[in-house]
Amino acid sequence: MRALVVDHTAKAHLSQADVADPVPAPDEALVRVEAVSLNYGEVKGATDPATPDGALIGWDAAGVVVEAAVDGSGPAAGTSVVTLGETAGWAELRAVPATRLGAVPDGADLGAVSTIPVAGLTALQVLRGMGPLLGRRVMITGASGGVGRYAIQLAARAGAEVVAISGNPALEDSLRALGAHEVHADPAHVERPVSGVLENVGGQQLVDAFAAVQAGGTVVSVGRSSGADSIFPAAALTPTDGRHDRSIRTYFLLADAGEDFSADLTWLAAEIAAGRIDPGISRRAAWTSHEEAALALLERRLHGKAVLDIA
Ligand SMILES: NC(=O)c1ccc[n+]([C@@H]2O[C@H](COP(=O)([O-])OP(=O)(O)OC[C@H]3O[C@@H](n4cnc5c(N)ncnc54)[C@H](OP(=O)(O)O)[C@@H]3O)[C@@H](O)[C@H]2O)c1
Repeated sequence: MRALVVDHTAKAHLSQADVADPVPAPDEALVRVEAVSLNYGEVKGATDPATPDGALIGWDAAGVVVEAAVDGSGPAAGTSVVTLGETAGWAELRAVPATRLGAVPDGADLGAVSTIPVAGLTALQVLRGMGPLLGRRVMITGASGGVGRYAIQLAARAGAEVVAISGNPALEDSLRALGAHEVHADPAHVERPVSGVLENVGGQQLVDAFAAVQAGGTVVSVGRSSGADSIFPAAALTPTDGRHDRSIRTYFLLADAGEDFSADLTWLAAEIAAGRIDPGISRRAAWTSHEEAALALLERRLHGKAVLDIA
C-alpha cells in the first residue's frame, strides 16, 4: 500500500512510499482509509530527528471497513468509520481495534469526520473533566486551532459562557459564530474570572490563564503550541486575594491505552453528519499535497483542521 512516512530529506519531513500492508490482530478491523486529518503534535513530531526515517505516523483517519475483526468485535465490512491510533493512520489501509473506531452515518463526509479523533475527543474529554458547565465561564486558548474550535462548540452546547483566546483578531467573527461569547487576544485581557481553562498554547498564556481562574477553578494544560516555557511569579502561586484551591492539571488523550473511545467517536461523527458541529476544515486537498498542509500547520498559517483525501 501507499503511505505517508517520515523522510528527513523532505521539506516537511514527510513523503509518500510503498510499505507493507498492515496485518490485523484478531480484535482489529482492516479499514480502507479515505481521508485523514493532520494534528500539530504529529506533524511537529515528524520533524524531530529522533523520529526514524520511514516511520508510519498519523493519528486521525476515516474510511470503510474492508475486513471485520475476526473475534467479532467492532463493525461489519462495509461500515464507514472514524479511527484513532498512535501511528500509521496516513496510509491506504489501517488496522484498528473496536475501542478506537466509531461508526459514521451513511453518506457522511469522511473528510469532515476524519477531524474528530484527536481534536474532538480531546475537547470533549477535557470539558467533561471540568464537570457541569451550565452557566460557568470557560476559557479556551489557541481557540482557532483544531482542539480550540471543537472546544468552543462543545462548551457552548454544554451551557458555558465561552471566553475564546486567539492571537488572530481577524478570526473573532468566526469564533463567535462557533459559540464564543467573548474573544480576546490574550488571557491577560480577560476581566472577569473563569472557572475552567482548556489551555493549548503554554508559555506566558498558561501563566496568564492561571491568573484568570477563580477560587476552586482549574487550568487543564493540553498543549504547548507556543513552544515556550511557563515561568510563574511567586505571587501567582501564593495569592493574597482569597482565590485559593486553584489547580493546573495535565492531560493526555491516550493516557489509558485500553480506553474505549468508540461511543464518543460515534457520537461526534453523528453530530458532524447532522451539521450540529462544524469540523473547522480550513484546508483540504489530495494527500499528494501533504507538504503544503504540514508546513502551513507548522508555520501557524492554518487556523482549523487540514484534511487530506486519500486517492
Ligand atoms: N495532550 C493531548 O492529549 C493533546 C491532544 C491534542 C492536542 N494537543 C496539543 O494541543 C495543542 C493544540 O492542538 P491543535 O491540534 O488545536 O493545534 P493547532 O490546530 O495548531 O492550534 C493551536 C492554536 O494555538 C495557537 N498558537 C499556535 N502557535 C502559537 C504561538 N507560537 N503562540 C501563541 N499561540 C499559538 C494558534 O491559535 P491563534 O492563532 O488563534 O492564537 C493555533 O490555532 C497542540 O500543542 C497539540 O500538540 C495535546
